Amino acid sequence: MSLSLNVFPILLFLLIIPSTDNFGFVFSAEYYPAERDALLQLRDSMNSAVNLHGIWTGPPCQSNQSSWFGVACSNWHVVGLALDGIQLSGVLPPAFLHNITFLTTLNLSNNSIFGSLPNLTNLVSLEYVFLSNNRFTGSIPSDYVHLPRLKTLELQQNYLSGQIPPLNQSTLTDFNVSYNSLHGPIPQTQVLQRFPSSSYEHNSGLCGNPLEITCPMPPPPSPPPAPLSPAKEKNKKRLETWSVILIAASATLVPFLVILVSLCYYKKMHGKEKAKEEHTGDGSAELSEKKVPNSRSSEDPERVVELQFFDKNIPIFDLDDLLRASAEVLGKGTLGTTYKATLESGSVVAAKRVKTMNALTKKEFIQQMQLLGNMKHENLVQIISFYYSGQEKLVIYEFEPNGNLFDLLHGNRGVGRILLNWTTRMCIIKDIAKGLAFLHQFLPNQRVPHGNLKSSNVLVHRDNQNYHSKLSDFGFLPLLPSRKLCERLAIGRSPEFSKGKKLTHKTDVYCFGIILLEIITGRIPGEISPGNEEETKTDDLSEWVRTVVNNDWSTDILDVEIMATREGHNEMLKLTELALECTDMAPEKRPKMSQVMRRMQEIEQRIDENDAQILS
Ligand SMILES: *[C@@H]1O[C@H](CO)[C@@H](O)[C@H](O)[C@H]1NC(C)=O
Ligand SMILES: *[C@@H]1O[C@H](CO)[C@@H](O)[C@H](O)[C@H]1NC(C)=O
Ligand SMILES: *[C@@H]1O[C@H](CO)[C@@H](O)[C@H](O)[C@H]1NC(C)=O
Ligand SMILES: *[C@@H]1O[C@H](CO)[C@@H](O)[C@H](O)[C@H]1NC(C)=O
Ligand SMILES: *[C@@H]1O[C@H](CO)[C@@H](O)[C@H](O)[C@H]1NC(C)=O
Ligand SMILES: *[C@@H]1O[C@H](CO)[C@@H](O)[C@H](O)[C@H]1NC(C)=O
Ligand SMILES: *[C@@H]1O[C@H](CO)[C@@H](O)[C@H](O)[C@H]1NC(C)=O
Repeated sequence: MSLSLNVFPILLFLLIIPSTDNFGFVFSAEYYPAERDALLQLRDSMNSAVNLHGIWTGPPCQSNQSSWFGVACSNWHVVGLALDGIQLSGVLPPAFLHNITFLTTLNLSNNSIFGSLPNLTNLVSLEYVFLSNNRFTGSIPSDYVHLPRLKTLELQQNYLSGQIPPLNQSTLTDFNVSYNSLHGPIPQTQVLQRFPSSSYEHNSGLCGNPLEITCPMPPPPSPPPAPLSPAKEKNKKRLETWSVILIAASATLVPFLVILVSLCYYKKMHGKEKAKEEHTGDGSAELSEKKVPNSRSSEDPERVVELQFFDKNIPIFDLDDLLRASAEVLGKGTLGTTYKATLESGSVVAAKRVKTMNALTKKEFIQQMQLLGNMKHENLVQIISFYYSGQEKLVIYEFEPNGNLFDLLHGNRGVGRILLNWTTRMCIIKDIAKGLAFLHQFLPNQRVPHGNLKSSNVLVHRDNQNYHSKLSDFGFLPLLPSRKLCERLAIGRSPEFSKGKKLTHKTDVYCFGIILLEIITGRIPGEISPGNEEETKTDDLSEWVRTVVNNDWSTDILDVEIMATREGHNEMLKLTELALECTDMAPEKRPKMSQVMRRMQEIEQRIDENDAQILS
């Protein structure tokens, strides 16, 4: 008995060895070079824990077998690709799968792939698609609805945004898009409706069956906030206000320098705005001091050519249209001055004139900007474009019209104030956490991925009853010439900075904790007010909360505005606990952002369960 058990593997071994030898040397065998090329594109453009370079050699298929790791063959064709859980990272080569015509299984789950989902156009044999647990961004391609044999589509645990396309293949039996940032109604197709709610949960904005979230009534057709370029936009209906602004804005960006020039001439020290956007801002002298000479003296045409866009499909408009654009100062901060530029068409962009990093090489700047610009997340302000020259560095963002969290929390307390109830605050907190967690995951090698997280850098946008927030001013730390300058960023208030210790991802976590406390207590961290900074080095807010909480675990700390209503006290105190962990003096004791996300989910769930118990 035991003998025959031992013999079997040995026989198998003998059978396999000679044939694998052949794979390396026999090239006369028929194989399909286009399929091989496709796999080589993947091999050569991505990193992984498995050394594909070393092991994907020779032809991929020998009749029905393959010696290539993760590849399955049938009749000399590649039919399966299973590269799950091998720490594959990078962006998939565009359209690389097109030539693997007979592909039936694609498994890239549990890796670190970012960028868009693969283009699966014309892969009519495809049945199983596993892409879950990666860092995919962008929307689900609408032509996935044309995959006639699709049985499995697993996209959970990514950063996908946009709406779910109306998949309705009767073959589809396994579908999951949970843990993404999808929004909009779940299409009412027969097929999509038969999956359980767990296929859709943990998205920020999905609604309709089978989730028990009713979709808001579609708003009455009202004129869009910014006129669109008439020709291009096919899916106008589907675009949110946001994307409308973004597209319109990006379409008209090229001439910003011209705007900047006219702006410098005409607006000069237009002192209306008092450094709203970044309340650690410095005096307004800088603007006039740096203004005109640089902008005018060098040749404008060349600069415009060098403006770099992240979306290659943006139509380039005529400069003359934009000379009459109006511009105003939005805020001045450590990193530079931010302007709002309103074009004649009504589209608006925000542009930051980066001033502190003149020592920087062009390459460093461009690399960092490309890294940041290719990042897309609904809770991060999108960089649309940037410009570099010796004296002038510009970063152009989508414009967020509704102001920032600092103003929302602390501005206009008194008559006419819009109350911020707990649900709203919770929405804002979750968005901040999501944005920051994404940054941390996307930029694992950057010391402090955000670096300047504070309430004035959280832009808040309201549509109907819902608030959404986006982080701005992130990713500049690698560009700062000296540590000294960090002093005036949010991270300058962390204990590790004042002690001269290493700054890490946990420094962002500290800043996150402070914002959390600010939202819960309604108090200004360090009790500084805009225009009156510099005096406190570390934050007394967390100290104060800690003292109150230690003495008597009570609701004293809560903002009066949310105290009054009875909702959510438990949740608030749990979050306070979390915030205090985030602001621990010892960075290593603070949770990671991924842990913060999990904790927040648990808190919400527990509260839901309690509510359910009370009701029943
Ligand atoms: C597919 O194969 C054809 C023929 O070899 C080649 O010309 C084409 O570039 C390939 N397509 C892709 C997306 O690699
Ligand atoms: C390869 O597999 C196909 C279908 O599974 C089968 O028809 C064919 O005979 C197999 N070829 C060899 C050489 O085993
Ligand atoms: C695809 O990968 C996931 C994650 O590693 C695994 O759970 C699943 O079984 C794989 N599916 C197939 C068909 O190989
Ligand atoms: C994901 O891949 C890692 C290795 O990269 C492995 O340890 C882990 O078990 C995998 N998880 C799943 C769910 O397959
Ligand atoms: C996918 O590839 C096809 C064929 O090359 C192309 O027509 C289509 O535009 C691509 N889709 C996307 C979303 O890039
Ligand atoms: C989806 O497919 C089913 C069956 O093929 C069909 O009856 C139905 O009309 C299709 N469309 C929708 C929106 O459900
Ligand atoms: C979808 O994926 C999530 C996360 O992996 C899991 O919790 C859930 O059970 C899945 N739902 C279905 C229907 O597979």
